[in-house]
Amino acid sequence: MDKLLSGLQAIENKFTDILTTVTDRAELDQIKVTLLGKKGEITVIMKKMSSLSNEDKRKLGQAANKTRQLVEKAMERKKAQLIAQEEQEKIQADRIDISLPGQVNRVGGRHPLALMSKEICDTFIGLGYRIAEGPEVELDYYNFEMLRLPKGHPARDEQDTFYLDYDKGLLLRSQTSPVQIRVMNQEKPPIYIVCPGRVYRFDAVDATHSPIFHQIEGLAVDENLSMTDLVASLELFARKLFGADTEIRLRPHHFPFTEPSCEVDISCWTCGGKDPNCKTCHGEGFIEILGGGVVHPEVLENCGIDSTKYSGFAFGIGMERVAMARFDVKDIRAFYENDLRFLEQFNM
Ligand code: DAH
Repeated sequence: MDKLLSGLQAIENKFTDILTTVTDRAELDQIKVTLLGKKGEITVIMKKMSSLSNEDKRKLGQAANKTRQLVEKAMERKKAQLIAQEEQEKIQADRIDISLPGQVNRVGGRHPLALMSKEICDTFIGLGYRIAEGPEVELDYYNFEMLRLPKGHPARDEQDTFYLDYDKGLLLRSQTSPVQIRVMNQEKPPIYIVCPGRVYRFDAVDATHSPIFHQIEGLAVDENLSMTDLVASLELFARKLFGADTEIRLRPHHFPFTEPSCEVDISCWTCGGKDPNCKTCHGEGFIEILGGGVVHPEVLENCGIDSTKYSGFAFGIGMERVAMARFDVKDIRAFYENDLRFLEQFNM
């Protein structure tokens, strides 16, 4: 009997020692099984009770219950302590350092050519124009014939392009001027449109040429429009884009679809035409940015518009040329290489 009682005491002592070393709940569960389980140490002692006297049975029963209760209570306390500790560890692990800089998402920006296109279009929209678009795969008929560039016309040489089907006259448009024809075929004056878009030419790539580039076409057809209106509109456009001091200069030129025709230069944005050694204009003082003129009466008549009643002016702006000027880009290829170090400069 005494052996059994001291056995219980030994269990209590051992248990108290073990409990201080327990670090997680699985371990605690394991201890519970070894003490209180079916084959547990306390259970084993209890099983020996049958051979004892009634008096001893009672004593041992009381002692065993005391041990069991002590063990259970201590376990409960330890369990609560372990749960609190786990929670604390989780909170520590989940801690966010709010003083760290956040992760910044990279947000794209407009391409410089798109910026340019938008700015030019906005300027003309402010003058009452609207945007019109046409296909990049175009018919020879619209791209050349209707614009008074019949087959064999020498002016076609400058605009040699890529043919998808030569016999069917299917080509990649070499200019945005065919959009003029498409619109005039559909609508009657007054017409005020700007047509931004991609154009193609059989040109070798260098710092100022690319077989794919962009233009913005402008067309105004109304009663009593003349060269004066073209000049005034372009002057306003140039000053809006390049500053209020900008001058424009017209040089006589030839386009089959306008008469008279001109090329239009703007005063150098770097030296204002004052530096003979200027690197931008090479001492020229002016830089060419577009072509234009008074719409040839035959072009109007081709589209069923009465050229005795209506007249108009048109112009074609080289988008890359204007963007290179405006953003001081030296090589046209920079626009197409998609180098983020270049493009990111325009995120505005
Ligand atoms: N289409 C011409 C070109 O690509 C530019 C141009 C000149 C357009 C005069 C016009 C114009 O509408 O009137 O060279």
